[in-house]
This record gives sequence, structure tokens and C-alpha cells, in this order.
Amino acid sequence: MEEKDKILDIKDLDVSFRTSAGTVHALRGVNIDLYRGETVAIVGESGSGKSVSMKAAMGLLASNAVVNGGQILFRYKNEAGEIEEADILKKDKKWIRRNINGRHMAMVFQDPMTSLDPTMQIGKQITEGIIAHLGVSKKEAEERAKALLEEVGITDAEKRMRNYPHQLSGGMRQRVVIAIALSCDPDLLICDEPTTALDVTIQTMILNLILKVQKERGISVIYITHDLGVVAKVADYVNVMYAGKIVEVGNVNEVFYEPAHPYTWGLLSAMPDLETEDSRLYTIPGSPPNLLHEPKGDAFAARNEYALAIDEKEHPPMFKITETHSAATWLLDPRAPKVEMPEELKRRIERMRKEAE
Ligand SMILES: Nc1ncnc2c1ncn2[C@@H]1O[C@H](COP(=O)(O)OP(=O)(O)OP(=O)(O)O)[C@@H](O)[C@H]1O
Ligand SMILES: [Mg+2]
Repeated sequence: MEEKDKILDIKDLDVSFRTSAGTVHALRGVNIDLYRGETVAIVGESGSGKSVSMKAAMGLLASNAVVNGGQILFRYKNEAGEIEEADILKKDKKWIRRNINGRHMAMVFQDPMTSLDPTMQIGKQITEGIIAHLGVSKKEAEERAKALLEEVGITDAEKRMRNYPHQLSGGMRQRVVIAIALSCDPDLLICDEPTTALDVTIQTMILNLILKVQKERGISVIYITHDLGVVAKVADYVNVMYAGKIVEVGNVNEVFYEPAHPYTWGLLSAMPDLETEDSRLYTIPGSPPNLLHEPKGDAFAARNEYALAIDEKEHPPMFKITETHSAATWLLDPRAPKVEMPEELKRRIERMRKEAE
């Protein structure tokens, strides 16, 4: 694919946070690519740096953050329909807020209440951004808001416009947040755990809604989640993140059916499925490293039963497996002993393949 179709290009992003306990090295060289119209999922345990990566892309890093290096290029369509490029780390927050956020890049967070103003009618919350970003009349913005509410499956839109957030259910509130996110026709939608605060049936509805609007509008989506089942449904490409780095990337079939990193093996083994009883569900031993004290070598080594001696000394580079699939594990070095994924996981992947067919 051509470079100009790359909508987001994150290169070697390195971010620390200053805290009273010391420096937390949260992102240690993150690379993420996203092409127009595609969906990329970012998965990984809590604290791996998923949200920080996306906050950096939106110019929303906390004030104690320090960007040590890297680049974030965002390519969006301007009013004339031409592709424009913003070098996000070189822009000030105000510029990003005025020109990018809510306009070309929109976000849906886990808890809709963090994005909604409890004291404002939802109609006004939708029209505000439309008026500010698109410069249309109030009447036109209201028409647009109503159509958006209908698009996200809210009936009686006219009446709902006058409701306050607390008058809506959690699922409805998240629909409103999605309507706001879509209101200025963004190039990129970032969803950070958008369904985790909702119950299971509502989760599926919201997920299907995001899939629907993506297909209809052809926007690019970054989907952050703990739930690999969700990833399988929504993503074209998957980035597996661990301790501030992407440790495996590939298309969804490569990561699910031919995972190469032992961490990905662990995540897939820990995924609940119909045939595994709860009591037999695998968990990855140990816990992620504390990034106040950066690990030497491979950050996953201490938890990795397949770790090699070199893992203690040196962080593995990304080894290329196919044009689209790479993983950072010394097991892929030509000198490494031949190690295969656990038998139990192989059987599980076979089952997943069969179910998918
Ligand atoms: N403002 C901050 N000050 C200090 N440390 C921070 C700050 N924001 C994030 N961190 C740290 O950066 C690391 C990455 O955090 P991040 O929120 O990106 O994790 P995550 O992968 O999104 O996890 P989760 O799945 O729990 O949402 C964590 O160690 C976190 O404690
Ligand atoms: Mg997060």
C-alpha cells in the first residue's frame, strides 16, 4: 500500500512519566501503522501502554509526561479533500485540540460519563462540536445531531436531544458518545475499551454499531481491548503490546492462528472459550515488570518458560516472519533452538479455525 494511504504512522515512540517515586518509562519504542479504512487492535495486559500510546497520538498526554523520542504522523483529509500531514509531537496541544481532536481524530473511552457533561442536554453536547469545527448554523447542527442519534440507533431522537446524560442508560450514553465522535466525520476513530463498562448484551450491540459505522463511512479505527474475542471480530491487524513495546504485529489470522511470541501464546491460552472449563483456564505466570525499574534484556523473560540465556541480556529485535507479521522474541533468531507453542494451544487454535469456517 502507498505511504499516503497510511493514516497514522507512529515510529519509535518513547515516553516517560515523572512521578514522586521516580521515572516511569511507559513507552519504550512503540511502532504502529494504520492504513485508511482499516481497523487495528492493540491488546496487552493492564499497564502495557495502550492508552498512553493513543493519548500521545491525540496530544492528550498528562502534564508529567516527557516525550524522549519518536514521531507521530497523522494524515487526514482537509476541507478540500486533499491529504494533509500533521507531525503531532511538533504541534502544541491547543492547535491539536482546535484542528485535529473531535474533527479528524475522535475518541470513545471506556466510561461514557468521562466524555459527557452531566449538566448539559445531550443535543447541545453534540451540536457544540459540529458548530465549532464545521462552522454550520445552529439549525443545521441540530438536524445533523438528530440524524446522528438515529444512525447510532437512538429512537425518538428529537426528544432525546433534550435529555441529560443521567436520564439515559449506560448503553445509550455510549451511543451518544459515539454520535459525538462521528459528528464531524473523522478520519480516525480511537476506541479505548469502549464496551468494558457495559453488560454483555449491550457490549455486543455497541461493538456491532462501531463495525457498522466503520463500514458505512470507511473510517479507520484503532480498537484497544483486553478481550481477544472482540479483536477477532473487529480487527484487520493486531498489535500485541507488552511493557511499553509492541512485541508482535500481524494480520488477524497470523496473530490468532500462527502466533510467534510466547506472550501472545499466553494471551491466547488465557482467553476463555466454550470448551475450556473455568477451572482449567490458563493464566500467564507472574506479573508485568514495574517500569520504574526498567528490566534488562527482554521484559517478558522472567515470565517466559521458553526464555533463552540471551533474553536476560539483550532485548530481542523485531524478527520479520512475513510481509505483515513480525515478533520480538529471540526464539525467531536462526540460532535459537526450535520451540513450538504448547500442544493445548495448538488444539485450541484448531478449534478456533474450525469455528471460523
Ligand atoms: N500520568 C501518569 N503518571 C505516571 N504514570 C503513568 C501516567 N499515565 C500512565 N502511566 C503509567 O504508564 C504505564 C502505561 O499505562 P497505560 O494507561 O497506557 O496502560 P494500558 O495498557 O492502557 O492499561 P489498561 O489496560 O489498564 O488500560 C502504566 O505503568 C501507567 O501506570
Ligand atoms: Mg488503558
